[in-house]
Amino acid sequence: MAITTCVFDAYGTLFDVSAAARLAAAEPEFPQLQSTWAELANHWRLKQLQYTWLRAITHAHTDFWEVTGDGLDWALEACGLSGNPALRQRLLDLYWELQAYPEVPAMLTALKAAGYNTAILSNGSPAMLDGAVKSADIGAVLDDVLSVESVGIFKPDARVYDLVGQRFGCTPAEVLFVSSNGWDAAGAAGYGFTTAWVNRAGEPVDRLPWVPQHILSDLISIPDLAKG
Ligand code: LAC
Repeated sequence: MAITTCVFDAYGTLFDVSAAARLAAAEPEFPQLQSTWAELANHWRLKQLQYTWLRAITHAHTDFWEVTGDGLDWALEACGLSGNPALRQRLLDLYWELQAYPEVPAMLTALKAAGYNTAILSNGSPAMLDGAVKSADIGAVLDDVLSVESVGIFKPDARVYDLVGQRFGCTPAEVLFVSSNGWDAAGAAGYGFTTAWVNRAGEPVDRLPWVPQHILSDLISIPDLAKG
């Protein structure tokens, strides 16, 4: 079935999540980050995601901004960087205003020009997604920004993927879902979306019952992929 709707995960897919720690490390106020920013960013991301899964399966939902702060606190402690409120606040401020990967604006513009529906489907809270979309200046080439907050559970719960059909009136087979998270691409493939995993880091494929149809190293080819 032809693709009508292209849907993107946000954090790590359109927006570069490691940029917060990388940019803070370049600021003169935070010399202690120069040697640890990559480890901090990795711990932060992994804990943030683990907390989403744990909160989903224990029915203890809270929004992604709180989970992001909790993951950061764990990561700062793991890296010996606790007890610095200015550093914590700077990292959260940078996370709020993440930039998009360089190819994102042209890729979304090409999809809109070709007549596809375009949207974000993200764990992010509406307010933090609004902050990222505005700072990356991509609001004009997105038809909608769908947040898990409207169903109160994180991905990969099927109720989150249901939001796409509810919004655009399309079947799962008409959706190209794009994520940099292997587990999200797998979950979406299991749901019935055509999925593309953007594997910028060259990681192994997740050992899950479902596999993405496409594995890419960036987003440049998405408009061609949507054409089929
Ligand atoms: C999101 C996270 C999973 O944007 O990256 O939903």
